[in-house]
Amino acid sequence: NKAASAICRFPLVEVQGIPLMSWIAHNWSSVQAFRPDPSDLLISTYPKAGTTWTQEIVDLLLHNGDAEICKRAPTIIRNPFLEINSPPPIPSGLDLLKTMKPPRFIKTHLPIQLVPEGFWENKCKVIYVARNAKDNLVSYYHFDRMNLTQPEPGPWEEYVQKFMKGKLAWGSWYDHVKGFWKEREKKNILYLFYEDMKENPRREIVRIMRYLDLLLSDDIIDKIVELTSFNVMKDNPMANYTFLPKIVFDNSVSAFMRKGEVGDWTNYFTPAQSEMFDEDYARQMADVDIPFRTRI
Ligand code: A3P
Repeated sequence: NKAASAICRFPLVEVQGIPLMSWIAHNWSSVQAFRPDPSDLLISTYPKAGTTWTQEIVDLLLHNGDAEICKRAPTIIRNPFLEINSPPPIPSGLDLLKTMKPPRFIKTHLPIQLVPEGFWENKCKVIYVARNAKDNLVSYYHFDRMNLTQPEPGPWEEYVQKFMKGKLAWGSWYDHVKGFWKEREKKNILYLFYEDMKENPRREIVRIMRYLDLLLSDDIIDKIVELTSFNVMKDNPMANYTFLPKIVFDNSVSAFMRKGEVGDWTNYFTPAQSEMFDEDYARQMADVDIPFRTRI
């Protein structure tokens, strides 16, 4: 009945307390049972933290900076989205994975406790990208306006509350960034920050390269820095999500490649909202010291 179903703003259904798109929740046992190969690589993020950007960097690193090879297919086909399950035209992550031989490069937004155990048992490499809460929230707000598979964002003021309470798809940002942070050493997770990538993309690309045990020439690294800059990716139809039809992502409401900056939150939070958010943030993040930056 998949083919007969249509794309709509799917409700969220909780899986172990985490709100997920209903289609993902209904397919949960298959996601949990997924067995990766030890050579598979996982990129994990809270939505809107810089997933697509990092996917493009990794794909280029794995293909020695070959821009043409990295335009072989759209991002979601090159790097299956593990848990995604939806009516067409969005491909199911698990179906896609069945057609690909390891090593595969897999994307997930699942919080650490929901990542299938096989990734840890097989000691797969895992790259985590985190983005400061305020910019992450602003980006998610605009994304929920244009992504017609997720609940309506509603008014900004209410959206801020939903973010703080962990009511958005994939749950609490706070628990997400903390979960991977606490396990990063034990599980050999490469923990990156969006702000560091903006500040010095070359430095962070080299970190990813080393984590992947690759050694590329300086010229190729320079080329990857250029190919993964915001402006180049914004014009790359295989990386900018314009390949999804308007019934899924309506880029005319807000472009997927929207702004790509650090500090855009100052254009949305009023001083009172910012203060209220910061107070709550201090409470929710009291048990960790993750060096987030809201400006660079
Ligand atoms: P904004 O909405 O702030 O512009 P994800 O891929 O996790 O969904 O994250 C999307 C966010 O990353 C968007 O943020 C998008 O513009 C930004 N982004 C994508 N590619 C980028 C790049 N090459 N450089 C900087 N930001 C990028």
